[in-house]
Amino acid sequence: MLNEIFFEKIYNKAGLSAISGYADIDFCKKVAEKGAGWVTLGGFNIDKKSREAGILISKRRKEFILSQNLYNYLDEGIKILKKFDVPIFINVRGIDLDKLIKLSKFLMERGAYLELNAHCRQVEYTKLGLGQELLKKPQLLEKIFDRMKKKTKMPAILKARSYVIPSKDLCNVSKLCDVLHLDAMLPGKDRADLRIISEIKSDNSDTFLIGNNSITNLDRAIEMRKAGADAVSIARAALKNPSVVGEISMGLSDGI
Ligand SMILES: Cc1cc2nc3c(=O)[nH]c(=O)nc-3n(C[C@H](O)[C@H](O)[C@H](O)COP(=O)(O)O)c2cc1C
Repeated sequence: MLNEIFFEKIYNKAGLSAISGYADIDFCKKVAEKGAGWVTLGGFNIDKKSREAGILISKRRKEFILSQNLYNYLDEGIKILKKFDVPIFINVRGIDLDKLIKLSKFLMERGAYLELNAHCRQVEYTKLGLGQELLKKPQLLEKIFDRMKKKTKMPAILKARSYVIPSKDLCNVSKLCDVLHLDAMLPGKDRADLRIISEIKSDNSDTFLIGNNSITNLDRAIEMRKAGADAVSIARAALKNPSVVGEISMGLSDGI
């Protein structure tokens, strides 16, 4: 039931994608009050390995600074953001099952969703098997999602990146998920690889597909939808203009 409401709410909408160090409570609030389809807080490091990697990365990138008291922070953030009646995703880095289950329970009780990060490409994460490296371990992903679902009923939501594994393997990974949130980046280009969106959707139409990368206006969002994405997400354009997510989301609902 929760899942059905969730899918209905985000279908054909534009939401805020994770932006570590920027997508905090205040930023998500600004985006939500302008009509975004959903918002994403984070990403956050939630286990020993991801925290170790985060400490190393924070020496060169301030946006990877760790958040203290994550649970208190999320509790406060969810309370504030719930007022806008939009789904709230929490983007997390980590593979410790106990921690993932504990956080999933906490989020389910508050009506928020855990998005597992298989996207970060910093070597500090990947060498510990985190971030995009997870895409190379479908059995581990399957185990994580199975356990999380059995113990907490949290839907399997994965944030992934294109061009890490062959597209046919990415199609298989999509089958492990209720929601695949794909940064369909085309290396070296400022536009998304719409081919991979179409390939995944035509191979597996059951998984809800969120298309992401270089969506800066309604035309790009419509292209992404026509390629096969059920919804779209936005990161960098929202940093320049937090209203853009809501504008595109309302444009999609009105026009496509
Ligand atoms: C500064 C910055 C931090 C990001 N942090 C995260 C993160 O923590 N987790 C994640 O899944 N994606 C993260 N992303 C990726 C974005 O969510 C998005 O996938 C990517 O920027 C492509 O979308 P865009 O073209 O709309 O920016 C980050 C992007 C930026 C620019």
